[in-house]
Amino acid sequence: MDLNLIGRHALVCGASEGIGRAAAHELALLGANVTVLARRADVLADVSAALPCVTAGQRHGSIALDVADAAALKANVAALAAANPVHILVNNTGGPPGGRAIDAAADAYLAAFQRHLLANQALVQATLLGMRDAGWGRIVNVISTSVKEPIANLGVSNTIRGAVASWAKTLSRELAPDGITVNNVLPGYTRTQRLEQILRDRVQASGKDEAAVSAAMLATVPAGRFAEPGEIAAAIAFLASPAAGYITGVSLAVDGGRMQSI
Ligand SMILES: NC(=O)c1ccc[n+]([C@@H]2O[C@H](COP(=O)([O-])OP(=O)(O)OC[C@H]3O[C@@H](n4cnc5c(N)ncnc54)[C@H](OP(=O)(O)O)[C@@H]3O)[C@@H](O)[C@H]2O)c1
Repeated sequence: MDLNLIGRHALVCGASEGIGRAAAHELALLGANVTVLARRADVLADVSAALPCVTAGQRHGSIALDVADAAALKANVAALAAANPVHILVNNTGGPPGGRAIDAAADAYLAAFQRHLLANQALVQATLLGMRDAGWGRIVNVISTSVKEPIANLGVSNTIRGAVASWAKTLSRELAPDGITVNNVLPGYTRTQRLEQILRDRVQASGKDEAAVSAAMLATVPAGRFAEPGEIAAAIAFLASPAAGYITGVSLAVDGGRMQSI
């Protein structure tokens, strides 16, 4: 199986921690030059410096910006891609705050739409030329199992994830003739800051303690445990690899069997 990414340039968003950071690590292990993107410049510099180099000449870098800042996102990523064409784009950022759909203000939906769908669109537009020129590209969107089974108390997130999944499916058909695949990874409960936030929200909403909330969540996971970020990253890296060249337009759940739909 060809997993070799030597000579490819990957831009991994939301990569200062969690799933994005783990994905950057896996892609670097497969030989890619990796640029990590998130808001905290100091953390990103450390993440970039710690990425593995498995081949001579492999280089990593970072861009610090807020993906909600559309102008900065377009300008910085266009400059990066002009200097060093991007072949692999991992669209990923922090999840929207919790809460019921019915209670959310219009601004919360607009902010999530900007940070997820519009940022992804700007990132694809800024990197597309390099993928087209290479006749080879990989776009992997980190979304959520909620695109198939909405999760209680994540109303804005559920809504935006569905929009991103529909956008991605549409894009996969538009870009396949260029040798570019577009796929989604749907993480289950994964040990990151995001999971800590979800646990805190559920403790607050239910009045139960964290151990009880955690046990109730795990009772829905046949594998009986939360995922490690590296397990989600392995799926992202596979979809980014040459071996996955005929896979496009799919949503791959990595959830320990939690989803019940087929
Ligand atoms: N963990 C789970 O159980 C789980 C389950 C299903 C879906 N997901 C989804 O998968 C995605 C990644 O999850 P995760 O658990 O790895 O999240 P995480 O640990 O909270 O990490 C989020 C990453 O995104 C960056 N980020 C957040 N807001 C940003 C912004 N406005 N601009 C640029 N970068 C931004 C953060 O870095 P900075 O703070 O430095 O910007 C960080 O690197 C999220 O959308 C999450 O909702 C997670």
